Amino acid sequence: ILEILLKGLHRLEYRGYDSSGVGIDGGNGKDWETNAKSIQLIKQRGKVKALDEEIDSKPKQQDVDLDVEFDVHLGIAHTRWATHGVPSAVNSHPQRSDKNNEFIVIHNGIITNYKDLRKFLESKDYEFESETDTETIAKLVKYMFDNRENDDISFATLVEQTTRLLEGAFALVFKSVHYPGEAVGTRRGSPLLMGVRSDHKLSSDHIPVLYSSGKLQLQFLIIDSYVRLQKSTKDKKGCGAIARMEQDTCLFPVDEKAVEYYFASDASAVIEHTNRVIFLEDDDVAAVREGRLSIHRIKRTAGDYPARAIQTLQMELQQIMKGNFSSFMQKEIFEQPESVVNTMRGRINFDNNTVILGGLKDHIKEIQRCRRLILIACGTSYHAGVATRQVLEELTELPVMVELASDFLDRNTPVFRDDVCFFISQSGETADSLMALHYCKERGALTVGITNTVGSSISRETDCGVHINAGPEIGVASTKAYTSQFVALIMFALLMCDDRISVQPRRREIIQGLRVLPDLIKEVLSLDDEIQKLATELYQQKSVLIMGRGYHYATCLEGALKIKEITYMHSEGILAGELKHGPLALVDKLMPVIMIIMRDHTYVKCQNALQQIVARQGRPIVICDKDDFETAKNSSRTINVPHCVDCLQGVLSVIPLQLLSFHLAVLRGYDVDCPRNLAKSVTVE
Ligand code: UD1
Ligand code: BG6
Repeated sequence: ILEILLKGLHRLEYRGYDSSGVGIDGGNGKDWETNAKSIQLIKQRGKVKALDEEIDSKPKQQDVDLDVEFDVHLGIAHTRWATHGVPSAVNSHPQRSDKNNEFIVIHNGIITNYKDLRKFLESKDYEFESETDTETIAKLVKYMFDNRENDDISFATLVEQTTRLLEGAFALVFKSVHYPGEAVGTRRGSPLLMGVRSDHKLSSDHIPVLYSSGKLQLQFLIIDSYVRLQKSTKDKKGCGAIARMEQDTCLFPVDEKAVEYYFASDASAVIEHTNRVIFLEDDDVAAVREGRLSIHRIKRTAGDYPARAIQTLQMELQQIMKGNFSSFMQKEIFEQPESVVNTMRGRINFDNNTVILGGLKDHIKEIQRCRRLILIACGTSYHAGVATRQVLEELTELPVMVELASDFLDRNTPVFRDDVCFFISQSGETADSLMALHYCKERGALTVGITNTVGSSISRETDCGVHINAGPEIGVASTKAYTSQFVALIMFALLMCDDRISVQPRRREIIQGLRVLPDLIKEVLSLDDEIQKLATELYQQKSVLIMGRGYHYATCLEGALKIKEITYMHSEGILAGELKHGPLALVDKLMPVIMIIMRDHTYVKCQNALQQIVARQGRPIVICDKDDFETAKNSSRTINVPHCVDCLQGVLSVIPLQLLSFHLAVLRGYDVDCPRNLAKSVTVE
């Protein structure tokens, strides 16, 4: 079980974390039930590898025989990204109810009322050991247990009673010595899925939801975690013996065969064991007991589907492995010729110049009638909005605002029923974007998601949208998701104007540009050696300025963000039109400057900027069209990229900067995929 748990944690490492831990059955018992009546916790600051080493040292210290096999075993594991309290073993999850580990819990998210709860529990003599909000949950569930009204209370009910007192956003998985071999997981606001693995037929491919009284108001949450329970044929209380009613309300393997259940925040943690998964909904409480899985909810509300389907995921393990590349980020940069094809697959017909977005077809008329478009996102996804704003304005003839989600909320930006709000997010889980989505929904705007993660919160909560289908992105620094978001937004712009005769030549030009884009991306990627050489000249510098304008302003912002994120060098994306208003003061013969100059409507203005830099003894490196001899004459060095339609050129101009940041990070000796202080999926405000 430790191997499975640790592997699951490794698969989730890409989310970014600073400590990890596991909780497993801890006894030296000779049968699983005795063994499950105690819990062993092993936690460690740092990488999962450090946890692995700590685990290796335990059996020797505690005389545990790791070779004993049990018919049933439940373990939970977690990677933590510090929000409440420093990264440390004691603050890592699982968090526990008491020194005897009676209840343990893993948690993703934040409990906003934890201070009040902690005060209450301390007044009842519960002693806290960590600084986390999560520890409150472990203590609270024990409090509920200690004060239970009857001894038959089920684990799921206990969890329901606990979570109804929690405020905030959360996903949780619980384990307890009082409920050996049982697991309970629940969520609100963050993803939690269940994997089901059995070599044998299951009783159903749908699990009905069990509703209890309507009185309780429950709230539930998430985890970077992973749980396994195995039910074997040897168990006395075999599934064949279960009551008729239970047969209709839970999932189990027929004929008393073995089954394994996994709870995870992300399919990548379980995909090597099973591709059969159930996505839990907010407020679902999933309980695994004696080989059976049941899903509970307090009450049925309008629009609730009273069953959860077992879905088959198409994702292959190899899709989430590094392949021959040294890092996920490098692999993802080189995947771009295929990932942009996947974004367009089945959606563009290049022969008759038509675009179909299945996710928008029922809403496109309403979108065409709207008053303005608001694109809302964070980080790289925000840059995808900046990059496509101009072509959206051109082809939709609508005002387009591009907003950073946090700032949009800070300003209480006015939003109206006739606005259409786009939420661009690779993960679909970014807290600021999700909160902005709730804000816009409350104000009656139509909401559209541009997401890479099917089943993510933004994908589910938007009225409609487009999955960019770029495949899992694991490197914290986003690359292929950016180019696919870019292409998805372009496709949306094309769809918006497909019945306007006057723009047909322009539409055709762009569609044919998209047709050749994958080959042009390959051509840019072939500059890798040249860019690596450039990186060897730059990697000891402290700072890099990146300048451009028009379609390439977004490339400057995105290139600078990539460099900041993974090389820890200072880097700034500068709008060339602003040069004289400040940034020019930074330019001298020592300051590295990268410029982007393409043959579009800003070309002459960019040439002026180039002259201004050269006149201050700057020695700019210019990313330009491959046959632009004029620019080559005035620059100390050029990176020559192929030419394509102006509004798509940003896909090509960003790739040299993705490659440059990657090589700079490698030369500076940093972990490319997991930059310090950053997380892939930022699920807190
Ligand atoms: C869908 C299928 C795809 C299949 C294709 C065949 C899914 C996820 N996609 O793709 O596997 O090959 O039909 O025609 O089953 N949505 C949102 N918000 C978002 C993203 C999407 O609400 O952020 C909604 C869409 O409005 C749509 C659904 O999710 O209702 C699926 O979107 P998408 O995958 O983009 O649709 P298709 O391209 O039609
Ligand atoms: C984090 C990531 O900051 O979130 C970035 O490190 C990403 O790479 C940003 O761009 C936004 O994430 P998402 O998933 O909403 O696109």
